[in-house]
Amino acid sequence: MSEPPRKTAFVKSYGCQMNVYDSTRMQELLTAQGYDQVDAPEQADLVVLNTCHIREKASDKVYSELGKVRVMKEERAAQGKDMLIAVAGCVAQAEGAEITRRQKAVDLVFGPQTYHRLPALLKARAETGRAVVETEFPAEDKFDGLGGAQSRKALKQGVAAFLTVQEGCDKFCSFCVVPYTRGAEFSRPVHQVLDEARVLAEAGVKEVTLLGQNVNAYRGKSAAGEITSLAALVAELSRIDGIERIRYTTSHPKDMTDDLIAAHAEYHKLMPYLHLPVQAGSDRILKAMNRGHTAEHYVRLIERMRATRPDMAISGDFIVGFPGETEADFEETLAVVRAVKYASAYSFKYSERPGTPAADRKAQVPEDEKANRLSRLQALLTQQLTDFNRGCVGLTLPVLVEKAGRNPGQVIGRSPYLQSVHFDYPAGREGEIVACRIDGTKTNSLSGIAIEVAA
Ligand code: 5AD
Ligand code: SF4
Repeated sequence: MSEPPRKTAFVKSYGCQMNVYDSTRMQELLTAQGYDQVDAPEQADLVVLNTCHIREKASDKVYSELGKVRVMKEERAAQGKDMLIAVAGCVAQAEGAEITRRQKAVDLVFGPQTYHRLPALLKARAETGRAVVETEFPAEDKFDGLGGAQSRKALKQGVAAFLTVQEGCDKFCSFCVVPYTRGAEFSRPVHQVLDEARVLAEAGVKEVTLLGQNVNAYRGKSAAGEITSLAALVAELSRIDGIERIRYTTSHPKDMTDDLIAAHAEYHKLMPYLHLPVQAGSDRILKAMNRGHTAEHYVRLIERMRATRPDMAISGDFIVGFPGETEADFEETLAVVRAVKYASAYSFKYSERPGTPAADRKAQVPEDEKANRLSRLQALLTQQLTDFNRGCVGLTLPVLVEKAGRNPGQVIGRSPYLQSVHFDYPAGREGEIVACRIDGTKTNSLSGIAIEVAA
């Protein structure tokens, strides 16, 4: 029997790294289902938008993007070609059938916990001719449903890959939609994570970033049924040949345990870089945010991390203009930033998310005040980022070669601190880790000289 003709798919990811991971898994699943991946939506038989709901602007973008994709669908229809439009991710989870009501061209809606059912959903769409909405939290294991670790071979991997180890969140920060869209905390069993890491290593991956909304709350089961911490998982992953670098993100200050801090001294594969959001520097606001820790606790934690690994770089997330935040509260955020000295950071204006406790608070901060605080905070953070990059000049850093650079003879690699490093190096050596002397900085990258070419 002849194979059915192959189709084309375009998957676009919005938002966090976990969505990037989910999009990759969807692409792998679709490849196995007979879809080739294309870079242009207008050429695709299936367009998947993997959406983000974390802030207002993120979800608005989805509807405007859907408007554009609808036009493409109509143009294809005029040429006698079909296009299916799927909305996946956290907007799909939060809005469900509302999406198909607002945008009639949408064929499929499914959340972050149901995308492994994509083949069945496509089938249901074909059989019923009607839009299919699937946003239940299923009982079965999504990762098993995706075809296990071997399914990661369907797509070519780069030298660095994401690996989701934990999902969901039980912390319920009062501003955040994640506990509602991604559901309760869940950790993948240790063997599943190790199998996937081995498959990635065989495919040439050198650096894995373990992902979780609360990754340092990881509590996966070992084969013997014992609860395993993130530090113990890192220990196991360190033993896999081929995996040279391990990162994890995003962490919560409350779950930064002693064994995890100690792991940074113990396992040289663990990169000296930690993304540890604090959100705000005022204890009053931290309490209103339901963060469960004080500013001092956070600053002490960073000090302990640096005592363990003096070369540790810190990255953070901040929200300005949380309901009730005064100028004095905001200045405490600036004080934390000055105390920590960040290597990188993300900062946002507070955005009301329907259904979260903070959205109902009366003392909302005016938009212009939020904008003013954000620009002051970002000026300070940009200064710190520049200082951090300049401080790298003269150091010799191990750089993972990722791809060819813009100029012939040049490559682009990544430093332990996730900076891009441009340097001259022979072509075709992706995946090597090269000692580079850093000799210059640009806004978002470094330049260096390879001090030796590996044999
Ligand atoms: N408004 C603004 N920023 C938010 N974040 C999460 N929810 C909101 C919100 N309602 C930010 C936090 C979090 C990051 C992923 O997004 O800083 O760490
Ligand atoms: Fe959201 Fe807080 Fe959970 Fe992070 S820890 S995902 S900010 S509720």
